[in-house]
Amino acid sequence: MNYDEKKFLGKLAQIETLVDLEDLRIEYLGRNGIINQLLKKIVEIPPDEKKGYGVEVNNLKNRINQLLDKKKNTLNNRMSAEFFDKTLPGKEYPKGSLHPISTTIEQIASIFQKLGFIRVSYPEIEWEHFAFETLNMPKGHPARDDFESFFVDEPEDKERGRMVLTPHTSSGQNREMLRLKKPPIRMINIAKCYRRNWDATHAPMFYQFEGLCVDKNINITHLKGTIEYFAKKFFGPDRQIRLRPHHFQFTEPSFETDISCNICKGTGFVNGLNKKMDKAKCRVCKSGWLELGGSGMVHPSVLKAGGIDPNEYTGWAFGFGPERCLMMKLGIDEIRDLYGGDIRFLEQF
Ligand code: PHE
Repeated sequence: MNYDEKKFLGKLAQIETLVDLEDLRIEYLGRNGIINQLLKKIVEIPPDEKKGYGVEVNNLKNRINQLLDKKKNTLNNRMSAEFFDKTLPGKEYPKGSLHPISTTIEQIASIFQKLGFIRVSYPEIEWEHFAFETLNMPKGHPARDDFESFFVDEPEDKERGRMVLTPHTSSGQNREMLRLKKPPIRMINIAKCYRRNWDATHAPMFYQFEGLCVDKNINITHLKGTIEYFAKKFFGPDRQIRLRPHHFQFTEPSFETDISCNICKGTGFVNGLNKKMDKAKCRVCKSGWLELGGSGMVHPSVLKAGGIDPNEYTGWAFGFGPERCLMMKLGIDEIRDLYGGDIRFLEQF
């Protein structure tokens, strides 16, 4: 076969540009190129050698093709390494953002700070004394069981009892009273809390924000007004709140605090506002109201434990969950989504 491999390789080695490479491709693989000329010669080949000859030329064609492609890659790489266009826009890296719970906490804090509440935080690992005793739940009191606590395996302190992962932000009440020594107190305590719970709406670690207000002549209307202010600021101006009788050891009277459901506008029915429509129960709240959390007037014994004279001062407190507020605002029904760290979920906020 009239083909000189050395000659081809020599030419290939000398090529420096893509244009020259294309010329070489045409010279060998073009319509009138060397390979096609070799193929045309098949008529001159004796019949029993035709097949072998054909295969041989085809293999050659493939090999040349491969060598040309390889050279093309080499030239391309060399070019991009040498050529740097500084006018091209840079690569944009994905931007991070705050976790929706962090954003919610900041929103809540700023709503209360505008009302003159001071934001504080107290130990995440707390003594029983602050978590229970000073909150009118003496040793062995069954109300302690409501706060299914994680105790820390450490020696007990004579005065302050065992160590516990703060089961609620109410443990900051006594600490704040001791810190300020004297009312007025306007505290907003936002902190991590821990309880033995794990289902769609409860995580073993969660947040609470606790409001505490102690001064002369403080009464339930101040509690109600403050919660209503918060609800309208955080959830929207058309939301209502209501207080339902309840029991906590550390408040008297005590309330469960509800906010009107946004989906059914507080009616409890799917087509709430349109009375003529069918009366299917609202899927979200079933009753027109959603629970925000506990609240009440600070129990006299709690004031006393904080060195405050209950005959001179009165106060209120509430403890709500930022996650719950966020879920109620956005219609999220799985608390575990908030803590899952799945970027596809978190990116939506
Ligand atoms: N500490 C209570 C709880 O975690 C909530 C609460 C706070 C109730 C303040 C009344 C007053 O359930």
